[in-house]
Amino acid sequence: MIRLSRGILLAATCALAPAPAWAAAPFKPDVFIAATGGTIAGAQANVEQHGYTAGELGVASLIAAVPQLTDIANVTGEQVMNIPSQDMDDAAWLTLAKRLETLERSDAVTGIVVTHGTDTMEETSFFVALTVDTPKPIVFTGAMRPATAIGADGPANLYDAVAVAGSTLTRACGTVVVFNDQIHSARYVYKTDTTRPDAFTSVDRGPVGAVDTGHPVVFDGCAGSAFRQPMVPIAGISALPKVDILYAYAGMGRDLIDHAVLAGAKGIVMAGVGDGNVTEAALAGLRDASAKGVVVVRSTRVVAGFTMRNAEVDDDKDRFVASAELKPSKARILLKLALLKPSSLAEIQADFDTW
Ligand code: SIN
Repeated sequence: MIRLSRGILLAATCALAPAPAWAAAPFKPDVFIAATGGTIAGAQANVEQHGYTAGELGVASLIAAVPQLTDIANVTGEQVMNIPSQDMDDAAWLTLAKRLETLERSDAVTGIVVTHGTDTMEETSFFVALTVDTPKPIVFTGAMRPATAIGADGPANLYDAVAVAGSTLTRACGTVVVFNDQIHSARYVYKTDTTRPDAFTSVDRGPVGAVDTGHPVVFDGCAGSAFRQPMVPIAGISALPKVDILYAYAGMGRDLIDHAVLAGAKGIVMAGVGDGNVTEAALAGLRDASAKGVVVVRSTRVVAGFTMRNAEVDDDKDRFVASAELKPSKARILLKLALLKPSSLAEIQADFDTW
């Protein structure tokens, strides 16, 4: 009897009292999705053929395709642009980076996901990493198969990207690419397959973490992934200088180099053979370009490895810069930013050795 009354009293008390702290709804981070297009937003006319158009679906469709996102985050989104990433250019980078900088400063945002085409993700993510202050993670993701494909990879990548953006574990990671269960630093990642879902590789270092169905793991606290501050803060950038990439091959002449200089390039990134080497004819063209004030950076067409200063080429004598770890696509971004400030060649070399 007593027991019963006590039980009734306890039950009544519980029904009237406010929910105790331990019973509160689990914390959900506020993740903002900035959509830019790409295959993740692509649609096919026929799911049994590989042809499709990138950048067809809007951000609302991407979010609606993964209802489980609401289990792990409060998700909002915005269509910043809707293009295939092969059409990314300086103007698009400036628009996106400025928007991301504003989102970084918003109290209503815990972390940011950028959906983006895979073709130039290695470039846009590196540009953002070098120009946007990232106390909160910025997570690039996309898809190799269009949204309508049998076995589309976009929904799983988006789910993982939202989990990574909302996680406290990834706070120190800066700008990353989340793809096919891996977390890659924007500093080290390159697209290394034309069509397969495991399209991204951090060729010289490996990924900085992994993510398993929305559960991120970060290796060594993401050491070395993020920059302590932006190289050139985006607020101060209104335009970027013209920098071209030229691809070396056996028997290369100097005509493409001369043409780049005539067309107004302020910098040339040479995707050299091996350790950034070129033919004698091309070397003469690069020396003349350098003498005219064009900054020449020697990089490599090889997938992995560093381009070393003063190895087979006398960079000191020829006034060249060696790209160190950066492959041509990222070396071009760094050179564009380095050229925004008056710098000696030694200072630009130091930028390549640092960033
Ligand atoms: C693109 O980069 O926009 C097309 C290819 C892709 O997203 O995978």
